Amino acid sequence: MSMHMGSQLRTVGRAGGVLCIGRLYCDLVFSGIDGAPAPGTEEFAQGITLMPGGGACITSAWLVAQGRPAWLCATLPSGPFTDAITGELMRAGADLSLCSPADPATDPQVTVVIPSGADRSFVTRRSGPAATLPDADDLSSLPVSHVHIGELATLVQMPEILTLARDAGLTVSLDCGWDDSLTRAEVLSLIQDVDVFLPNRTEQAWLDRIGVPLGTAPLTVVKLGADGAAGHCPLGHQHVPGEPTNVVDATGAGDAFNAGFLHSWIDGNPVPDCIVQGNHCGRMAVGAMGGTGALLEADTQE
Ligand SMILES: Nc1ncnc2c1ncn2[C@@H]1O[C@H](COP(=O)(O)OP(=O)(O)OP(=O)(O)O)[C@@H](O)[C@H]1O
Ligand SMILES: [Mg+2]
Repeated sequence: MSMHMGSQLRTVGRAGGVLCIGRLYCDLVFSGIDGAPAPGTEEFAQGITLMPGGGACITSAWLVAQGRPAWLCATLPSGPFTDAITGELMRAGADLSLCSPADPATDPQVTVVIPSGADRSFVTRRSGPAATLPDADDLSSLPVSHVHIGELATLVQMPEILTLARDAGLTVSLDCGWDDSLTRAEVLSLIQDVDVFLPNRTEQAWLDRIGVPLGTAPLTVVKLGADGAAGHCPLGHQHVPGEPTNVVDATGAGDAFNAGFLHSWIDGNPVPDCIVQGNHCGRMAVGAMGGTGALLEADTQE
């Protein structure tokens, strides 16, 4: 079964950069605790890390780390949280010229990450627009061939991203992210219209329950944690096992996976090879705190 699904979709001639659009958070990642405290009790964490978070941001950093130019289009978290993450954002190397300041009247976009075993849970404050989109002229002047959208909720909020990308002849990928307030009517046609859909196992199970089955998108790659990932398209499906490793923090593993997968897919490689690259990045990401911690460590070791 050859899974060259989508190769005819890819545009040639544009430089191969990626525009990543999505919500940008200040992640407060706790460590040294196992799960949220029971009501009325208190847990004392061994550590806390402030990192830029959100799918688009983390994926853009891992694309740059693989040598692919990336642009981040997002609203910066307001208040003191922008300063807390600006240094790491700059270091990660994505072009930030399409990031815009938040309306000071809106709450800062913050995610509290509470690890529990090899997984984690989030408490997130989401406010205001996810991003200010470039206009068609600005987009056509960028050396990009692909748009990656960090979460489904952002595409529901801004469906015009698809028209903007298609009019510019770009391919489009979409991560899912968890938001069970979304409805089938809101998401079905959007998922059908992207080239690559990248949910994790829990998110695809939720979509199945609301009547958005596997195979709604032309190519769906389901991320399976330590089990790796599986590609699904009309030509068939293929599971590529992961490279099991010890988890320091699972936050951002899926976004790192997206970057590995897309870096290989944009170059026209067969889907199983793209999943291998995705697994590699995902595995590295769980070995450090936060979505880009492993890149920070790799940088300081050079
Ligand atoms: N314990 C692990 N050992 C090896 N690889 C892992 C492990 N956990 C995750 N990965 C790799 O990272 C990828 C993405 O992880 P996961 O399935 O947890 O995505 P996710 O839930 O979307 O993550 P997030 O949304 O926090 O970024 C997996 O497909 C796999 O390649
Ligand atoms: Mg994810």
